[in-house]
Amino acid sequence: MSKIIVVDPFDYVVVGGTGDLARRKLFPALFHRELDGQLPDQARIIGVARSELSDAEFVTQVEAALREFVPEKDLDADTLKRFLGRFAYMPNNAFTVDGYRALKDKLDEHPDRVRVIYLATPPSLFGPISAFLAEVGLNGPKDRLVLEKPLGHDLPSSQEINAAVAEAFDESQVYRIDHYLGKESVQNLMALRFGNVLFESIWSKAVVDHVQITVAEDIGAGDRATYYSKSGALRDMVQNHLAQLLCLTAMEAPASMDADSVRDEKLKVLRALRPFSAEDFQLNVIRGQYQAGSVDGEAVPGYADELGEPTRTETYVALKTFVDNWRWAGVPFYLRTGKRLPIRSSEIVVHFKAIPHSIFRPVTTDEVVPNRLVIRLQPDEGVSLRLMTKDPGPGGMRLRAASLDLSFKDEFELERFPDAYERLLLDVVRGNRTLFMRRDELEAAWAWMTPVLDHWTETEKGTEPYAAGSWGPDAAAEMMRRDGRSWHEDMK
Ligand code: NDP
Ligand code: BG6
Repeated sequence: MSKIIVVDPFDYVVVGGTGDLARRKLFPALFHRELDGQLPDQARIIGVARSELSDAEFVTQVEAALREFVPEKDLDADTLKRFLGRFAYMPNNAFTVDGYRALKDKLDEHPDRVRVIYLATPPSLFGPISAFLAEVGLNGPKDRLVLEKPLGHDLPSSQEINAAVAEAFDESQVYRIDHYLGKESVQNLMALRFGNVLFESIWSKAVVDHVQITVAEDIGAGDRATYYSKSGALRDMVQNHLAQLLCLTAMEAPASMDADSVRDEKLKVLRALRPFSAEDFQLNVIRGQYQAGSVDGEAVPGYADELGEPTRTETYVALKTFVDNWRWAGVPFYLRTGKRLPIRSSEIVVHFKAIPHSIFRPVTTDEVVPNRLVIRLQPDEGVSLRLMTKDPGPGGMRLRAASLDLSFKDEFELERFPDAYERLLLDVVRGNRTLFMRRDELEAAWAWMTPVLDHWTETEKGTEPYAAGSWGPDAAAEMMRRDGRSWHEDMK
């Protein structure tokens, strides 16, 4: 298990403490930190929402959430009791200033503590809540504000939210969550690239043919079908999670792990992304929607049926993009994500160029399969490198592809990978902003995506159907075929 850094005493306020995110992710993550002994004795967790609940009623809800979302074997009775003892609840409508005053009084009981105010609410409330927090003085040097995605639905709306927040909080106090950055395996990507000398010299157009980034989900929109209908895969996944994976794959080595060094390099990648052309809109940005089908042997309805009405919202996106800089000139990056694909699997695949000439006659260059580095993000986190080897035994020089495989779970004998939120929630307390998005970074990602969204709206573009349980619309495979490539076959 990782080393435990006990953090300074804190008060964690979760606005939206009765919501799905708090129940499913935030409280279970904090519980696991309790289990690992990372929470200081004095730490308090305060839920805020409109529902009129007493402290005891709220604690009952939190306990129910933990019993649902934490594995039973981890629910040690003493730890659970200690953890639940940290909770309090303060009912407040986001627009009622008196509620903020009461919150301030409660937090002022311990003025020296780090205070985190986590907004797990609809993003339309981020601006107003920030203003009220500032009005009652909850924007001091010890106060930190955490913002959940989605931060806006396009560039102008994101700028509006950021501007409203900036009226109340200094950028150094703002922590914008992209939970992919907290994933163990995503950080391993940095360890792999910048902790080994091997990769730097081959990490460029000289040797790399193309890169594929896939985040496949087998689940559908499910309970969040209504939220999703206003979002779609491009806003929900590509603008944030896939864009971040692209940045970490393509960025230059930062001078250090310091927050701004890392974020400066990611920003450069986002700003180097080639704008989409009219031809790209036709051929290289694929928008799909799942229809009825079967996942893991189980029949499932199509997205429109789940929603209960016809919809043009996409549940799948595949696209080709380029990072127009010296390192990556001419190297395509293919990104794809979708719901109701056959399996849950996220990976980054770096395809290297073919050898220029084969010395193994009569083996031709065609028989020498190009090297390929697969960074598996989830599940079964690890790395594998496909190499050509000699087929063992006599009978001439035959070549055969083989893999060097590293499974993090086996190598490090891990029982479980900590959830991304476990790291991120306490990084806020520690004041470590490396894994959070800076305002300019977020806006650069929206600047890249907004023309696509505008094009879809202006042209009333529909979606390509794909059967639930398939790998997405034919057009996505066709995009690769046109380029003489195919999606990473191990996924099939
Ligand atoms: P929910 O609708 O489940 O929860 C919203 C929370 O906000 C509830 O606690 C609600 O409580 C509270 N709330 C709403 N309006 C007000 C108000 N005017 N004043 C005070 N509290 C209010 O949403 P989620 O938990 O799913 O999502 C929260 C945020 O996190 C959203 O921005 C979402 O997009 C984002 N997110 C969610 C993920 C998830 O898996 N759920 C994943 C990634 C991001 P009450 O009604 O009692 O006021
Ligand atoms: C969230 C999206 O940000 O990420 C969800 O809103 C998606 O739609 C989820 O299911 C995927 O996260 P993970 O950690 O399960 O890959």
